Amino acid sequence: MKVVSVINYKGGVGKTTLTANLGAYAAFAGRRVLMIDLDPQSHLAFSFMTPEEWRDKYADTKTLLSYFEPLTRGADEAVDLSSLVIPLNMGDLLNLQGLKLGLISSHLNMIDIDMQLAGLVSAPTQIMLAANSLKTCSYLRNQLDKMKDEYDLVLLDCPPNFYLLVKNAVVASNYYIVPAKLDYLSTLGVMELQKKIEAYLRQYEEYRVLLGEGRYRPVFLTAFGIVPMMVNIHKGDEPISAEREYMKVMKDNGHYIFHFVRNNSSVFGAAPFDGVPAVLTRPRFNLTARRIVREMQELGEEFLGRLGI
Ligand SMILES: Nc1ncnc2c1ncn2[C@@H]1O[C@H](COP(=O)(O)OP(=O)(O)O)[C@@H](O)[C@H]1O
Ligand SMILES: [Mg+2]
Repeated sequence: MKVVSVINYKGGVGKTTLTANLGAYAAFAGRRVLMIDLDPQSHLAFSFMTPEEWRDKYADTKTLLSYFEPLTRGADEAVDLSSLVIPLNMGDLLNLQGLKLGLISSHLNMIDIDMQLAGLVSAPTQIMLAANSLKTCSYLRNQLDKMKDEYDLVLLDCPPNFYLLVKNAVVASNYYIVPAKLDYLSTLGVMELQKKIEAYLRQYEEYRVLLGEGRYRPVFLTAFGIVPMMVNIHKGDEPISAEREYMKVMKDNGHYIFHFVRNNSSVFGAAPFDGVPAVLTRPRFNLTARRIVREMQELGEEFLGRLGI
């Protein structure tokens, strides 16, 4: 099982769109996939169902809130994460047998969880701080480990910050990918994010050594690359020159650059067709849309190929 965080502490850069499309594509390609929405905005579900369906069937009982809320109240036993998985019926919609795509949805009240988790961490001594911090940031990892034979790929759709839920994602992950727009501030943001993640991993390791190395496992997190999102195209298939320049800057800084996803609100901005993300749709009359869908599929192949699953 490979766990991949989709992360960027900028909002509106396409994290959720990328998670939904990569998840859907990987499931279509035969991988057993679980997507977990850590963002209180809870938008990931809406790539697969209507807000009404989510509200009526899942909002009260089947969200990540049911997992984290007892922990913030000091419960020792965590709720079984697999009991919160919503099996998505994409296979039925596409007339395909045996697709395995699960979703653990978020909840608007997850916004309080981050604050409550922060309360659990604070402590008067360094050693207590280390113990609380590693315990609190390992909640997700511990539970995901129990599901390792059930899934080939887990995608974690992160909120746009670097608080404790994101740290939980980082600790649980083997890889992270960064969807990013190609402009000056986004490029700076990508560099800052990498530094932030590296600094956090150093702190984790420091705390781990302080507590005795046997208690927590090390985190091996690979920077997997950047997916340029909402890219503006000149003529044909090339990004406009300013955006090509930012891709080059990121590449020169050592980042792997995945195939870009172009800016097209008629494909990516519309409500999902019948609960199936764009990557698996077949737009009949719109040639550009068809081409974009093919590009998304190629991105999916590139992603799975590099992951080696
Ligand atoms: N390639 C794209 N072209 C046009 N609009 C896009 C594209 N990708 C995403 N969007 C739209 O941009 C908005 C933000 O995307 P989203 O995936 O929710 O970002 P995030 O999860 O980072 O906040 C959404 O309305 C989404 O539909
Ligand atoms: Mg999002």
